[in-house]
Amino acid sequence: MPSSTSSPVFITGASAGIGAAIARLALAQGAEVWGTARSEARLAELAEHERFHPVVLDLDDAVGALSAYREAAVAAGGFAVVINNAGYGTLGSFAEVEFAVWRQQLNAMLVNTAALAQAQLADLRRRAQGGVLVNVASLATEFPLPYMTGYNIAKAGLSALSESLLIETRHTGVSVIDFRPGDFRTGFNQSMQRPTHSADPAATADQEAAWNALEANLNAAPPPERAARDLWRAIERRHRGMLRSGDWFQTVLAPLFQRLVPTALARAVRWRYFGLR
Ligand SMILES: NC(=O)c1ccc[n+]([C@@H]2O[C@H](COP(=O)([O-])OP(=O)(O)OC[C@H]3O[C@@H](n4cnc5c(N)ncnc54)[C@H](OP(=O)(O)O)[C@@H]3O)[C@@H](O)[C@H]2O)c1
Repeated sequence: MPSSTSSPVFITGASAGIGAAIARLALAQGAEVWGTARSEARLAELAEHERFHPVVLDLDDAVGALSAYREAAVAAGGFAVVINNAGYGTLGSFAEVEFAVWRQQLNAMLVNTAALAQAQLADLRRRAQGGVLVNVASLATEFPLPYMTGYNIAKAGLSALSESLLIETRHTGVSVIDFRPGDFRTGFNQSMQRPTHSADPAATADQEAAWNALEANLNAAPPPERAARDLWRAIERRHRGMLRSGDWFQTVLAPLFQRLVPTALARAVRWRYFGLR
């Protein structure tokens, strides 16, 4: 299964970066792919492929997102693989940025994504052949990114969702993957929302340093096709559970270091890594 050439696949955030790379790989493997973006124009290039079906889905709109998924599922005759990949960063001081901004991010990336996952899981459980549910979290689940509190909460929450669903799906034909990419060379940082500068110059300098470090890391990171390959291989072998993807330093050495050294030391090293004061 999912490697089977006609398995229908549903991917949120297919217009760019990792989602677009997964969509292209799935198409190359012969799958029918339903991929989403907030505007159809963003999917124009993928839509040139006859087995790609563009879906307009905005995670800020809980009801609309759910009905976009349901309509696609009916059109596809059910999905064998669903990948909740869409997401964005917001950089700012938690105390100073209006809570409405954090609420919007948590609603989109955690609450409304979990609502999608619920509908998707129910559908996958009804399929005789089972299927695969992927929630794209991040290494930020383990290594929170500075001044990206909403993002860190959302990603840790998605990992908790996947881990919880592993319990509930263990005797079913559904595999759940908690996918945790490290840095990949996408437009993620360029799309980052930066709502305000801090009133505190030192905190502003910290945010600048964090953004610059992330930008430098993303520019030096592997291409998103690598994340797509790692995930697709895991889907094909029906992997269940957490899967890290990225370079050796981020996916092997850093988690090992974090496990072996005292928490306070690991935290200090992380802060240094991002150039914080
Ligand atoms: N790149 C990395 O280093 C990295 C590392 C760890 C985790 N991740 C995670 O991987 C996923 C993909 O990231 P990426 O690097 O590929 O980012 P990207 O290039 O910026 O692509 C983001 C995708 O998400 C969609 N999206 C953003 N906000 C949305 C919303 N409110 N509603 C619906 N769709 C929305 C975008 O669609 P539109 O066309 O509508 O903008 C786009 O297709 C994200 O969840 C991200 O957190 C990325």
